[in-house]
Amino acid sequence: DWNSGNVIAEQVEKIRAQVGSGRVLSALSGGVDSAVSTALVHEAVGDQLVAVFVDHGLLRKGEREQVEQDYVASTGVRLVTVDAREQFLTALAGVSDPEQKRKIIGREFIRSFEKAQADLIAEAEAEGEPIRFLVQGTLYPDVVESGGGSGTANIKSHHNVGGLPEDLQFELVEPLRTLFKDEVRAIGRELGLPEVIVSRQPFPGPGLGIRIVGEVTADRLEILRDADAVAREELTKAGLDGDIWQCPVVLLADVRSVGVQGDGRTYGHPIVLRPVSSEDAMTADWTRLPYDVLSKISNRITNEVRDINRVVLDVTSKPPGTIEWE
Ligand code: XMP
Repeated sequence: DWNSGNVIAEQVEKIRAQVGSGRVLSALSGGVDSAVSTALVHEAVGDQLVAVFVDHGLLRKGEREQVEQDYVASTGVRLVTVDAREQFLTALAGVSDPEQKRKIIGREFIRSFEKAQADLIAEAEAEGEPIRFLVQGTLYPDVVESGGGSGTANIKSHHNVGGLPEDLQFELVEPLRTLFKDEVRAIGRELGLPEVIVSRQPFPGPGLGIRIVGEVTADRLEILRDADAVAREELTKAGLDGDIWQCPVVLLADVRSVGVQGDGRTYGHPIVLRPVSSEDAMTADWTRLPYDVLSKISNRITNEVRDINRVVLDVTSKPPGTIEWE
């Protein structure tokens, strides 16, 4: 009989036995797995743990605050934020190719994490207690899939788990290794984590960087962040979060079309809504959202988000279309 309280107690014991008085490092991504695994380790070893959060500037609206404020307030975790927004924008300048973007984002992520890590290691060593452990939010399906080498396992190993370096100087702490996603969410709730984090839908490691079709710039990110926030808000308000696996909002930054807004003609960009239903992201179908919800989202985005004069709906299943546009 599965009970989140028992699992927590059991894992806390196991983590304490593994870690002893050693110091532990963790990377928070804003996602469920890293949030829950970090909270579990914190529950077990308190201030022996330090969490690092890299703000790469490709996050959605409010996500940094959710981690820095709500998550820290509910857990008491010691958090170091790395503001790497400029670094990522500079590295991404002039790049439109999706795989190229992924490579750059992965590389810059490791660079910024390693920089923070070096500082923390130096600090810990000065205090006579080196950092020996690294938390990973590996779930049971990840364990199984990495044996099989399936598509999602590749996605995970190449881009996910915060894209952490394979660092042999650390021993891994993986408290979610036997768990499924819904169990992880239940444990997160039991630990009192913010609901926005616990119930968050899948969001790719490269973030909004692969939801701008074209070059990633600060200006385009701001536009996309605003449009995405409107869509998420209306879907939540309509009570549809449970019906949707995820809903990428995509900016077609190199496409313009003519519109008529306010006093005259405009020449703006389209925003694509990509709501999908799925069990495991390997296949998906487009979600039949109610017309009035679509209409509300479209009206609000074209009214409230500058440079957007058209909202289009992606009605492609996967296959043949992937969930993301890049
Ligand atoms: P696709 O677009 O391949 O996406 O149908 C399947 C699932 O994987 C997510 N995705 C990624 N996740 N790094 C990630 O961590 C990536 O580069 C990446 N690309 C796609 C996508 O959001 C969906 O849930």
